[in-house]
Amino acid sequence: MIGASRSVISSVGRRTIAKCSKPILSSSVRYLSTTLNNHNESKIRVKNQYIRSYSSSSTVPLTAETYADKVQRDERFKALDAEDIQYFKSILNDSIIENEDDLLFYNEDWMRKYRGQSKLLLKPKTTEQVSQILKYCNDKKLAVVPQGGNTGLVGGSIPVFDEIILSLSSINKIRSFDSVSGILKCDAGVILETADQYLADQGYIFPLDLGAKGSCHVGGVVATNAGGLRLLRYGSLHGSVLGLEAVLPDGTIYNSMDSLRKDNTGYDLKHLFIGSEGSIGVITGVSILCPARPQAFNVAFLGVSSYEAVQQVFNDARKELSEILSAFEFMDLNSQRLVGQYLKSDHPIESAEYPFYVLIETSGSNKDHDDEKLETFLGTAMENGLVEDGIIAQDETQLKNLWNWRENIPEASQMNGGVYKYDVSIPLKDLYGLVEAANERLEAAGIVDFEDASKPVVKAVGYGHIGDGNLHLNVAVRQYSKAVEKVLEPFVYEWVSSKKGSISAEHGLGFQKKNYISYSKSDIEIKLFKDIKKHYDPNGILNPYKYI
Ligand code: FAD
Ligand code: MLT
Ligand code: ZN
Repeated sequence: MIGASRSVISSVGRRTIAKCSKPILSSSVRYLSTTLNNHNESKIRVKNQYIRSYSSSSTVPLTAETYADKVQRDERFKALDAEDIQYFKSILNDSIIENEDDLLFYNEDWMRKYRGQSKLLLKPKTTEQVSQILKYCNDKKLAVVPQGGNTGLVGGSIPVFDEIILSLSSINKIRSFDSVSGILKCDAGVILETADQYLADQGYIFPLDLGAKGSCHVGGVVATNAGGLRLLRYGSLHGSVLGLEAVLPDGTIYNSMDSLRKDNTGYDLKHLFIGSEGSIGVITGVSILCPARPQAFNVAFLGVSSYEAVQQVFNDARKELSEILSAFEFMDLNSQRLVGQYLKSDHPIESAEYPFYVLIETSGSNKDHDDEKLETFLGTAMENGLVEDGIIAQDETQLKNLWNWRENIPEASQMNGGVYKYDVSIPLKDLYGLVEAANERLEAAGIVDFEDASKPVVKAVGYGHIGDGNLHLNVAVRQYSKAVEKVLEPFVYEWVSSKKGSISAEHGLGFQKKNYISYSKSDIEIKLFKDIKKHYDPNGILNPYKYI
């Protein structure tokens, strides 16, 4: 427990910023891996990948049944037969899965909200094999779902009906790293944490970090244009990805892995694939520009009394911490209560409960300089009454523990049975209003109570990457139900649209938001999207029933 080992070192008025007693390691880096840790599951680490094994017999309902009113199987797609399986065996030998039990993990999503009915998973080992598979599927009109680490949060990575799952997990080699330019070239199936550890050995860092790093793939994060915890510092993947290798539905291999920083000859095609969620091609290789790894990390966790104060602290942090600020995350009290129950642990800030909490990470090259800057900043924030109480990690363990109170919110939100997730961009001043509006609506419907297990909803909680204007509204439920979903949708999307926000800041559209895209995009934009989809995938075999 962090709080127990700390001692007060600075005091401003009646408030204090507490520091843990041990000095922070100069090389401290957060290697926090949130694993595939759904409720009622145990974790087994196998060959650097987490797999789920269920201790509960509860099965996830079939997407096709839960959403029968929204989606029917497209009869243009051929049903798999023995001849098809024979063909895939001829190119992949035994790198396929047909057994229903073994397919379960790949048919179900991380939230245990969606379940498909695929009868076949293919694990190619080379880009050429992916090309052969897609050409065959396109000719025969067999539908395909590309799958990375299956950590996506919008039902995009699993089939809806009997689509073939094309897993990238066996295309997983680091291709090259240039320590002068900082350019990493790797296969799409490399796990994000593996790539980052490889880079750490060379003194570099992957320019994206997220809680699912122990399971998600580099190709998966590019396919979803994931944002994560350090977008504030390193920017979007549209900036750092320099080139891609991708296979189009007809088997054509597109390759822009040459990775020039500057190249203004024509359309920059790689951007079409970043965030395309497996709808127009299968990414097999990624070339990405990686920054030097910071030498010194600090994490401060603060209690704040209002949402207005959260915004003000952010504004001040940007100015005063400027180049060393690498993450600024906010969490509401209810999200922290859920994490407390999940971790079975006391909160690191012990003095009282606060309506909001903020996690600030700094990273730079000079520990003394960063410490001084952070302490001055926090001292002023407390003097100004913006921060009520706070704690600064003093070693790597404490640093990880503080991050745990942020990174475990996804798991904690669904530990009671499920979670409806809304990942939205909203202008900062209105951002938390959505959480309040959602709770008011759930209360008016009489379906929410933190303690009373007879109510389907536990609470709507809010947290997220406030530095990016990105709110995660998680509605923690005791079970998924149509009645709860109807209270939330399209209400949430309408609310976001009324504030000129986006219904997906970083998780994407997938199956969940396919029918709601018009809340964020105009008719003209949607038509252009459809034109692109039709151009690259005229038979619609790639990830059908989703995205657009
Ligand atoms: P999958 O889940 O397997 O697939 C996601 C989508 O991409 C699917 O549509 C799939 O068809 C497609 N796809 C996957 N690989 C390929 C490929 N090689 N070629 C073409 N299409 C492909 N997201 C954020 O943005 N920020 C976060 O902070 C964040 N934190 C998370 C924390 C947790 C605990 C979890 C479970 C998820 C989190 N996510 C976050 C969601 C995020 O989308 C995924 O973690 C990650 O980007 C998906 O990678 P994956 O390899 O698991 O892809
Ligand atoms: C996060 O920021 O924790 C992720 O986007 C995942 C989530 O919200 O569940
Ligand atoms: Zn996020």
